[in-house]
Amino acid sequence: MTSPKSQVSLRVRRRRFVVVAILALAAVIAIAAVLFNGLQPTGRSAVGGSTGVSDSASSSAPSDTTPSETPMPDPTPTPTPTPAFDKLAQSIDDPASLWVVVNKLRPLTPDDYAAPDLVDVPVPFANPPRLRAEASAAVVRMFADFEAATGQRMQSQSAYRSYSSQVSVYNGWVSSLGATGADLTSARPGYSEHQTGLAIDVSALPAACTLQACFGDTPQGQWLAANAWNYGFTLRYPQGRTPVTGYEYEPWHYRYVGLALAAELHASGAATLEEFFGLPAAPTY
Ligand code: DAL
Ligand code: ZN
Repeated sequence: MTSPKSQVSLRVRRRRFVVVAILALAAVIAIAAVLFNGLQPTGRSAVGGSTGVSDSASSSAPSDTTPSETPMPDPTPTPTPTPAFDKLAQSIDDPASLWVVVNKLRPLTPDDYAAPDLVDVPVPFANPPRLRAEASAAVVRMFADFEAATGQRMQSQSAYRSYSSQVSVYNGWVSSLGATGADLTSARPGYSEHQTGLAIDVSALPAACTLQACFGDTPQGQWLAANAWNYGFTLRYPQGRTPVTGYEYEPWHYRYVGLALAAELHASGAATLEEFFGLPAAPTY
């Protein structure tokens, strides 16, 4: 027989046992839950919501809800191909083409060709200049930008010349230099870029080194050499290319070829139109 006192003690011990057992079971369940969560893939925890902890994998994970899917990297952007410059896009033979190549082996056809859409060029000048409209607009922008950039000025020395004007110019050089000297500095009629309405001789204002090699050392000559391509021009008779062009260095003579070709010439490093287009050198007629 157990006494009433010992029966109470037994009930207390049983209750304690039940409470401890429940606590132990709860602890086992809690530990199991923590371990289970720790084994889940990182991507999944992002799907479940932010934990407030910085996680580069979860922040860049795609927003799908498939737990077993491996997060995909961002797709590699497809580079936009640079279209190759088409050297055949415009004629180099047609005297009305912006790309026409005129030299001692490539006369204008017909030789008395007269340029179309000539306009007066509204810039300072030594002789009243006319050019084809597109070239004229480019000259105006170029001169204005030079003045804005440097506070100095330049002018047109000579622009469009008709066949008959070129007769006078060439004969003048023959008179002063003889035929051999003239041919190094002046084109014969029918062979001059000036007859296309796309060429301009630039000089400094006030005048300095006009039509002389030292023009290349003036602020005007330096700026043009660095910047004229941005306006669609190319220095047509560069230093050291007499065997190709047939003319001595003319740092004043710029030829309008349009923005696209001027930029491509500049980027290619080709010094002359002959080299760029793979044409024969033209040192003599
Ligand atoms: N001075 C250049 C070559 C011309 O006369 O066209
Ligand atoms: Zn010239």
